[in-house]
Amino acid sequence: MAKAKTVKSVKARSEKLPKITVKEYKKIIFLGSEAAPFIATGGLADVLGSLPKELAKKDNLDISVILPLYGNISDEYKKQFRFLTNFYVSVGWRSQYAGVFFFEYQKVKFYFIDNEYYFKREGNIYGFYDDGERFAFFSRAALDTIARLNIYPDILHCNDWQTAASIIYLKGMYYGDDKFRRIKTVFTIHNIEYQGKFGMETYSDLFGFPDSIMSFVEYDGLVNLMKGAIEMTDIVSTVSPTYAGEIKYPFFAHGLDPVICRNERKLVGILNGIDIDYYDPKTDKSIFAKYSAADISGKATCKAELQKMLGLPERNDVPVIAVISRLVSHKGLDLIKDIAERLLSEDVQLVILGKGEIGYENYFRYIAESYQGKCAAIIAYNQDLSRKIYSGADLFLMPSKAEPCGLSQMIASRYGTVPIVRETGGLNDSIKAIVGDMGNGFTFHDYNSNDMLYVVKQAIDAYRNKDEWGKIVRRVMKTDFSWKKQAEKYEEMYNK
Ligand code: GLC
Repeated sequence: MAKAKTVKSVKARSEKLPKITVKEYKKIIFLGSEAAPFIATGGLADVLGSLPKELAKKDNLDISVILPLYGNISDEYKKQFRFLTNFYVSVGWRSQYAGVFFFEYQKVKFYFIDNEYYFKREGNIYGFYDDGERFAFFSRAALDTIARLNIYPDILHCNDWQTAASIIYLKGMYYGDDKFRRIKTVFTIHNIEYQGKFGMETYSDLFGFPDSIMSFVEYDGLVNLMKGAIEMTDIVSTVSPTYAGEIKYPFFAHGLDPVICRNERKLVGILNGIDIDYYDPKTDKSIFAKYSAADISGKATCKAELQKMLGLPERNDVPVIAVISRLVSHKGLDLIKDIAERLLSEDVQLVILGKGEIGYENYFRYIAESYQGKCAAIIAYNQDLSRKIYSGADLFLMPSKAEPCGLSQMIASRYGTVPIVRETGGLNDSIKAIVGDMGNGFTFHDYNSNDMLYVVKQAIDAYRNKDEWGKIVRRVMKTDFSWKKQAEKYEEMYNK
């Protein structure tokens, strides 16, 4: 009886108090292998360059990012980095030097892990015979940095296989330490195709994992870092709701579907955003003329100058269709190969920018050679040129076989270049078919080149209807792909 009375009186008292919601203060550390503007080879860099920045705008969040200190980070930034500390990290039976540098940029604290042997290399940042060892070192050095600098976060947010080992070390080896045990982890899959698989001989020799966690980390007779992280993390997220559903199936999961299904209860899909200040035709210094949704006239100049630059006839009445992509199979390039000649028999211009697998590179060189004056192919990764194409083209073709999120369709939209996409992954969540006054692009469902050609022709017809087309372009430009809304969803997830 007495107990019930107390509860009642406490309740009565608290009802009189004014309601204030106190936002919980949280410290979040992101780990990743690339982040714009320091080092960028793909979409991951865009995300790690813009999501932390958006979250850091909130005063209840303290945001840091830990990255490797690659030799190819430009001196313009490097000279501003401040040395903090150094120590030795165990990588299997070895002990390797790690230096830590610091730089605060756009309210985000960046920590860079220095080891010249691992990260000062010529050319690319991945694709070396010892990538497993390089990122095992990085993943462990990141945890040791946290301990050394006493910057224990509430949440450690790891991205892709290169940082998956951090979760495995944290949950499997650092757990005895109270401060580490309190850390919750998020593992984000940006692409399930790249899992970080290595021979079992690396298990203890290289990674130094204990036998007790072998059932989490081993898969199909290999060390599989992504699989280990999925099993051991608190939350698994991926970069679009549709992809979160797709990776439960073998067609998309590259062997991990049973693992995803087993861990389904901790799976979340949140669509990426883009940095709308970084990609803005109103201020972009790379493009030939500035414009906005309110006044798109500058886009015509961008088109004419692009045509001139690429040796295509300067015609305002012909649709320019652009493909800007890594030239790899999951981008759906086989569909384009299938219909390229049929498409080029129409009155169109086709522009391709990208590099990747040699077979595709050669094919696009060949087709540009055979259709001079109608098709241009630039086999390169070139940020400046990509912006000139995003702004100068009319249509953007992205028929991916699988697409975790995809950012190019959003960037193209921002520049008023209307996307044509296959309804998969993030393409399905970001681009809705145009019907009447609704929709922001052209879409098709099956992975079939005839279906694709059919909608490409629909898009060309729409383009020819000048009045309608202006409306479509403006509507597409106004689609909100900013991080603002999406960052809220991340915050919700962290609060869980
Ligand atoms: C990967 C995915 C791409 C996604 C990007 C950022 O590059 O392939 O779809 O947009 O990561 O999450």
